[in-house]
Amino acid sequence: MTFDTEAKFSRKTLMLHWVVGITMIVLLASGVYMAENKVFALYGWHKSFGIVVFFFALWRVVWRIRNGWPSTLGDPSKLMHILAKVVHYLLLIGTIIMPLSGFVMSVMGGHGAALFGLELIAANPDPANPGKVIPLNGALAGLAHQVHGLAGDALIIGVLLHVAGAYKHHLIDKDGTLRRMLGQEV
Ligand code: HEM
Ligand code: HEM
Repeated sequence: MTFDTEAKFSRKTLMLHWVVGITMIVLLASGVYMAENKVFALYGWHKSFGIVVFFFALWRVVWRIRNGWPSTLGDPSKLMHILAKVVHYLLLIGTIIMPLSGFVMSVMGGHGAALFGLELIAANPDPANPGKVIPLNGALAGLAHQVHGLAGDALIIGVLLHVAGAYKHHLIDKDGTLRRMLGQEV
């Protein structure tokens, strides 16, 4: 197994960062858009990609523990170093909390969950109101909904800080931080 070195990241680190990272950005943007505009046609796609990303995110956390964190390039101030670390933890934990809370919200809300059309947990239709569902646990669904919304907002801020940090490294500090995450040897 190839682990990361200071000069070059392993293929697994690169693949997991970009598969999870790009999918998370798409899900954050599509989540806000579909919830605000009630675009129900997007819900199934959002849930399916969210469930898939959960398994990549779990794999990534296990890999982070086995491999350790990347070593820091350049000479950041203590404050910047702590900020980057806090944001990395927030992003990693967020990739687990978002799919879990989304799943609990949907299932406990009575909507069920499906993976690209393959039913994982059936919905709980209301026989008296065709087209409506009965929540399995309305309080839990409501709590999970709040967590999904709040953690989503926190993650959007975290991702903006993270991307700004990556570009600061590249354009201002001119070190190899971004190039290393793009697979280059630095
Ligand atoms: C894995 C990463 C995920 C991300 C980053 C994500 C992100 C988001 C965001 C930002 C929103 C908008 C929240 C709001 O404004 O209230 C949202 C809404 C939603 N998400 Fe996710 N989500 C993910 C996974 C899931 C999963 C796995 C499910 C269900 C199985 C799910 C179900 C939903 C539903 C039903 C809504 C709409 C809620 C409403 O109508 O108010 N999400 N998501
Ligand atoms: C265009 C978007 C992105 C860019 C340019 C980018 C860039 C980078 C770079 C350059 C690093 C290496 C930092 C270092 O060596 O100390 C990094 C690490 C990291 N990024 Fe991103 N990133 C992006 C999106 C994301 C997203 C959306 C997430 C998660 C939601 C994420 C999560 C992480 C985490 C947890 C790390 C720590 C190392 C690891 O676990 O692989 N990134 N990113």
